[in-house]
Amino acid sequence: MNIKTCLITGANTGIGKAAAIQIAKEGYHVILACRSKERGEIALEEVRKASNSSSIELMLVDLSLQSSIKDMVEKFRLQYDRLDVLIHNAAIFDITQKKVKYTKEGIESIWATNHLGPVLLTQLLLGSLKRSPQGRIITISSKGLLAHPYLQVDLEDPEFRNRKFNVAKMYYQSKIAQVMYSYWLAKKLEKTNITVNSIRVTNVKVDLSRYPNLSNIEKLGYILKSKSSITPEEMAKTYTYLATSNEVNEVTGKYYDEKNKMVRSSKYSYDFDNINRVMDVSMKFINM
Ligand SMILES: NC(=O)c1ccc[n+]([C@@H]2O[C@H](COP(=O)([O-])OP(=O)(O)OC[C@H]3O[C@@H](n4cnc5c(N)ncnc54)[C@H](OP(=O)(O)O)[C@@H]3O)[C@@H](O)[C@H]2O)c1
Repeated sequence: MNIKTCLITGANTGIGKAAAIQIAKEGYHVILACRSKERGEIALEEVRKASNSSSIELMLVDLSLQSSIKDMVEKFRLQYDRLDVLIHNAAIFDITQKKVKYTKEGIESIWATNHLGPVLLTQLLLGSLKRSPQGRIITISSKGLLAHPYLQVDLEDPEFRNRKFNVAKMYYQSKIAQVMYSYWLAKKLEKTNITVNSIRVTNVKVDLSRYPNLSNIEKLGYILKSKSSITPEEMAKTYTYLATSNEVNEVTGKYYDEKNKMVRSSKYSYDFDNINRVMDVSMKFINM
């Protein structure tokens, strides 16, 4: 296949779906990597229609499960020799979650989905990305981290096994870990054709039907928040910029906001001693 291929995780809704449409309009072959066949197939039709492209495909993967990631990559490799863009968009953050949950592989589910899944998926797709003339990896973080400037990954207990579970703390820990992972990977790949950048997603309108357990107060909170939020389509423009623009052909190891501007993450996240410690701990969870 001569056209470029972009794989986006969690592309059946929200920013991921909007980015899939935009990137398909740029002429890329787009793979929607989704966990639900039903939601994925509906999105596949929507993305095809909205982008006026038939070069869209669905692949099923549950990012919280390493076995599922391995299965999807095996299928990918049978069909494709190379990958040009990999966007780690899928993530979970349900503010109604009060208790810790573990995947059937025994890992805390937010840590598994938002951080470890992207690390393993990238690792398994590196060979395919290296075969692209210019491979791009994009990780997704959150502007909400600005409210936690001193947040660190708990190296002793990243899964909240011995401390009180808090869904927001777990989510932001997974997002700072993704930013640090991006810097780590960019450095590892600096002599290759692959770039790695991260996006600081701002307050984007959330589809409340995805969270049926919200209390009235929580719903009100989201409604008030949505007054200052941007649309998934607006946010997706930064995904599309980093995925497709020639302006960033050689940019790597950077952090971007919704205006396509380079921004800084916390001081802690740039320190390579911290980064190496976080990645050493992360790798212990991953079964290559
Ligand atoms: N919205 C915001 O204000 C905001 C702010 C900061 C950062 N972000 C980040 O921006 C990204 C997109 O956010 P969004 O608001 O568009 O999210 P969203 O609407 O909740 O969509 C999340 C996507 O991830 C998928 N996903 C979740 N767990 C998965 C798993 N185990 N395997 C495969 N796919 C899985 C979901 O699939 P299902 O449909 O099957 O659940 C869905 O497609 C996320 O990384 C999020 O953390 C968003």
